[in-house]
Amino acid sequence: MPKALITGITGQDGAWLAKFLLDKGYEVYGVYRRLSTPNFWRLQALGIMDKLTLIQGDITDLSSMLRVIQQVEPDEVYHLAAQSHVGWSFDTPIDTIETTGLSTAIILEALRLTKGHEKGVKFYFAGSSEMFGNTILNHKGKIDESCPFMPASPYAASKVLGYHLTRIYREAYGMHAVVGMLFNHESELRGLEFVTRKITNAVAKIKLGLQDKLHLGNLDAKRDWGYAPEYVEAMWLMLQSEKPDNYVIATGEAHTVREFAQLAFDEVGLNWEDHVVVDKSYYRPRDVANLIGDYSKAERELGWRPRTTFKELVRIMVRADLERWQKWLRGEPIPFDAPYAEPLKVKK
Ligand code: NAP
Ligand code: GDD
Repeated sequence: MPKALITGITGQDGAWLAKFLLDKGYEVYGVYRRLSTPNFWRLQALGIMDKLTLIQGDITDLSSMLRVIQQVEPDEVYHLAAQSHVGWSFDTPIDTIETTGLSTAIILEALRLTKGHEKGVKFYFAGSSEMFGNTILNHKGKIDESCPFMPASPYAASKVLGYHLTRIYREAYGMHAVVGMLFNHESELRGLEFVTRKITNAVAKIKLGLQDKLHLGNLDAKRDWGYAPEYVEAMWLMLQSEKPDNYVIATGEAHTVREFAQLAFDEVGLNWEDHVVVDKSYYRPRDVANLIGDYSKAERELGWRPRTTFKELVRIMVRADLERWQKWLRGEPIPFDAPYAEPLKVKK
């Protein structure tokens, strides 16, 4: 049985990836950080808590990661843990650089020191479309692997650091190390602080009379939104490939935040304009206007392509949130604690 080690296993992608790998017959180990309150709701929602081995560790501490790697002796390492909120990275640039960028050096170094590269351990780094920022598009008007990086936030800059470190360890030590440059991907397990889930959660509550208004920032931003379970499959495919390389993973279609909101409200028969309030406090010091990916290389070399349409994605997310809140209203126990832990609007 191959062994996979996942950092960020408690996050959206970590949970979906753990499930995917378990279904493939892997032994799955997950690193999680010490928190005063455990945060396993996604793993519980997917019903995989008792099928995994969870190990406490700190991704910004080399001794901690060395211990984890020596203990697990993984065949594949998926480094997904990050401070993943772009807006928040403007408020916490140093922490973001440590968690999202420096941690990559720590894990790569832990692998090198334990001779991981000689044992053929494979490494996946969670890169991001944010690394491209407001880049120069290719001849199809999309972003592919050849487009230059123009990071527009501390988060994006940290991911560019991780990208280059991964490339350097591949070239210098022959490590099978890859970067997935994934465009936005969402699901019913998405965190509430990201715009899609913030919208679908609010739509469900508004429909059920639990909320009236939804405050949003930049409605004009365009994103290429796909369905997360399909994107974790691409991570795995990258590590199965003979030659380690970097890939753009996307749907090839972009929509504005406004369109997402409109479709989500349509789904429950409401007019979005009656509820959405534009709130400048959600604007970022700098935003990326348009992210649209060209996944041709992944399709050609990995046989990967997206399957869920934009409309289907919105429907999946709205229905899941409606179901959660309906259960909550009926007083039924639900495996999700996160829907109630909505981020409070704090003064900056
Ligand atoms: P997510 O839901 O925010 O999960 C982030 C994970 O990182 C969580 O498990 C979190 O642990 C962990 N983490 C955060 N800070 C940490 C720290 N200081 N020490 C240890 N663990 C820490 O993000 P996601 O959507 O699953 O994304 C997974 C990865 O892909 C991230 O690197 C993200 O930047 C990248 N990415 C995501 C997308 C997307 O659209 N989803 C697109 C491109 C790239 P807690 O649960 O304890 O907070
Ligand atoms: N979060 C949030 N909240 N974003 C809002 C809001 C709001 O109330 N209103 C408008 N937006 C806009 C943001 O300004 C941004 O242009 C867009 O909605 C998407 O924001 P997020 O959902 O926070 O995602 P992101 O695109 O910034 O980042 C996500 O995708 C990246 C890949 O492109 C994250 O998952 C990153 O970790 C990931 O790398």
